[in-house]
Amino acid sequence: MSGNVRPESMKRITTEELAKEFIEEQVTAIKEQVGDKKVLLALSGGVDSSVVAALLIRAIGKQLTCVHVNHGLLRKGEPEQVISVFRGEMDANLVYVDAVDRFLDKLAGVTDPEQKRKIIGKEFIDVFAEEAKKLDGIEFLAQGTIYPDILESDGVKAHHNVGGLPEDLNFELVEPVKLLYKDEVRVVGKALGLPDNMVYRQPFPGPGLGVRCVGAITRDRLESLREADAIVREEIGKLDETPWQYFAVIPDMQSTGIKDGKRYMGWAVVIRAINTVDAVTAESVVLPWETLRTIRDRVIAEVPGVNRVLWDMSDKPVSTIEWE
Ligand code: XMP
Repeated sequence: MSGNVRPESMKRITTEELAKEFIEEQVTAIKEQVGDKKVLLALSGGVDSSVVAALLIRAIGKQLTCVHVNHGLLRKGEPEQVISVFRGEMDANLVYVDAVDRFLDKLAGVTDPEQKRKIIGKEFIDVFAEEAKKLDGIEFLAQGTIYPDILESDGVKAHHNVGGLPEDLNFELVEPVKLLYKDEVRVVGKALGLPDNMVYRQPFPGPGLGVRCVGAITRDRLESLREADAIVREEIGKLDETPWQYFAVIPDMQSTGIKDGKRYMGWAVVIRAINTVDAVTAESVVLPWETLRTIRDRVIAEVPGVNRVLWDMSDKPVSTIEWE
């Protein structure tokens, strides 16, 4: 797709039929742009990169190589799902990079949030560039840029986004969804047959669980966060109307618990659920007591090391959506 301005005549993609038209157009355009050359894509498993992957697989099949970097800060089940959907169902060329130790070693002892973001961003680029250099004959780089990224290049997302592309990888870009809004990307993803929990995924920061495991990340606290977060998302996800963003946080503090008459120190899990339009301001969502109680009981019973469950009822401002 050429140009960075959405033409006024472009129809908003709201139905499966319109999505199918868009997919056909893009498949033709991608084939034309790429020819018989090879394309590389960093596939995080988020909706934008997943839709781009599915579009490219449809257009050029094995000429696409997807690289999925597991930095250890993904949510429960995410790397497994990327592998099962893209390698298993779509028969894609997928390079899975287990970089968990590498990231967690670099992050050990680091408490400053911006420093954590920088390390995660830089390490990601390094890992991706290393993988790219191992592959022969790549000439194109696909990216899940969407229209708001172009429009709000100095908005919240840009402020948070660390890194970018390795500059020494001199590839031509393939950005098939760059003129689409998020809701349109989802309609296209659905029409491409991606699973609902991939297509309707809530926003997830690039540094992932890294900014929700407050302070210096330790492996055991990170694992507890991942488990607690899965429970929080599962239970809140059952509501008829789900909030815009909902997740768990695990602060770097301990408090007293009591079990079999013995006192011990354990972590606290914080529940965060907010509604927002643009993430610039946000309102804490009033959760039903039933849901809160189920989360509390499950977290205490199922998550190792946790003895307290808290609910963050703060609005933005002054409290940012993420804790770091
Ligand atoms: P805050 O915490 O600033 O978050 O109220 C606003 C929105 O941005 C997301 N967020 C990030 N996204 N990289 C990202 O790609 C980041 O480092 C980052 N930090 C926060 C946050 O989840 C919320 O949706």
